[in-house]
Amino acid sequence: MSSNSACVASEVLREYAAQTGLAPELVPFARGGSLGERVLANPLLMAPMAGVSDAAYRMMARAGGAALAYSEMVSVAGLHYGSDKTWALVVPKDPEPDIAVQLFGSDPAQFGEAVGAVSERLGSRLALVDINMACPMPKVTKGGAGAALMGTPDLASEIVGACVAMAKVPVTVKIRRGLHMGKEVAPQFARKMQEAGAAAVAIHGRYAAQLYRGEADWGVVSRVVGAVEVPVIGSGDVRTHEDALRMLGATGCSAVMVARGTYGMPWVFCDVVPTTQQRLAAYACHVRLLEATGAHMARARSLAGWYLRGMPHAASWRNRAMRCVTVDDYLAMVDELVAAGAQT
Ligand SMILES: Cc1cc2nc3c(=O)[nH]c(=O)nc-3n(C[C@H](O)[C@H](O)[C@H](O)COP(=O)(O)O)c2cc1C
Repeated sequence: MSSNSACVASEVLREYAAQTGLAPELVPFARGGSLGERVLANPLLMAPMAGVSDAAYRMMARAGGAALAYSEMVSVAGLHYGSDKTWALVVPKDPEPDIAVQLFGSDPAQFGEAVGAVSERLGSRLALVDINMACPMPKVTKGGAGAALMGTPDLASEIVGACVAMAKVPVTVKIRRGLHMGKEVAPQFARKMQEAGAAAVAIHGRYAAQLYRGEADWGVVSRVVGAVEVPVIGSGDVRTHEDALRMLGATGCSAVMVARGTYGMPWVFCDVVPTTQQRLAAYACHVRLLEATGAHMARARSLAGWYLRGMPHAASWRNRAMRCVTVDDYLAMVDELVAAGAQT
């Protein structure tokens, strides 16, 4: 394999579809009706992941069958100062039909402004705006943003109100079980966000204090479902397609978000267990999409660990990926992997 850099992302997806078993075209998020009605047909969403969910990643997830994919979290202050780097996180790249944009910050006026600007720039490609009230990282919470908003519910409501006033699309919130271990506030907090105008609540069943450790509690997803009338999106420890269906059934949530379960596994959305050949082809496809979307090729290094997981000599191939620089370096490695597989 070698890259033809003139190829655009839509051509790359078409070129690899037969080898990967992923869709050659991306389907727009269902239009018309309430958000709850729109996720009925396909309730599987790709979660926001900072440093991961770039355009290429979102395209792979949607080619795998995700109804919608979220941007990385984007700073409203960054949009306020108009940085190109921040805008690059928000604007979908062809052939992405639409995108869910997640914003973080702590200033209602900046949120309102950001929603206005994002709506204007993305038009019909903006499917929804989500407000991050879940990020536990100190660099975010120390400024009162992310999960810290769960400790300032009046400010959180004001932020939802400011976004709703400027949005032409549903405004949703993503929350945690609570801030501190054993102090679950998600159900009452979710209700307050609904009253402020949130069109759906995504709940990650861990406390902010847990960061990403320990088990996610799905019971809190049920309790949030019981506390609000708007759709609830469950998140946490959905590793397989079967887990996603189990969460829907066990909690009564309207949709499920998959985060780490998507690592090297875009098929998680369509209940296919891929062959080794399909996983290698998908890695090559993903690498080509990084190139076609203008991403930094270093992103392909962490992807190698995910797509090659469980394969013979995976650790040495991962080391090999660390030495790759250009798209052709990565594709040559895939060729060698395919040849090595053919000999065994
Ligand atoms: C690398 C990484 C980055 C993440 N970034 C975000 C983010 O920007 N916004 C957000 O709301 N959640 C973020 N999350 C949380 C996920 O969306 C999800 O709620 C959480 O990982 C639980 O799901 P999981 O157990 O399926 O991974 C991130 C998670 C990971 C692993």
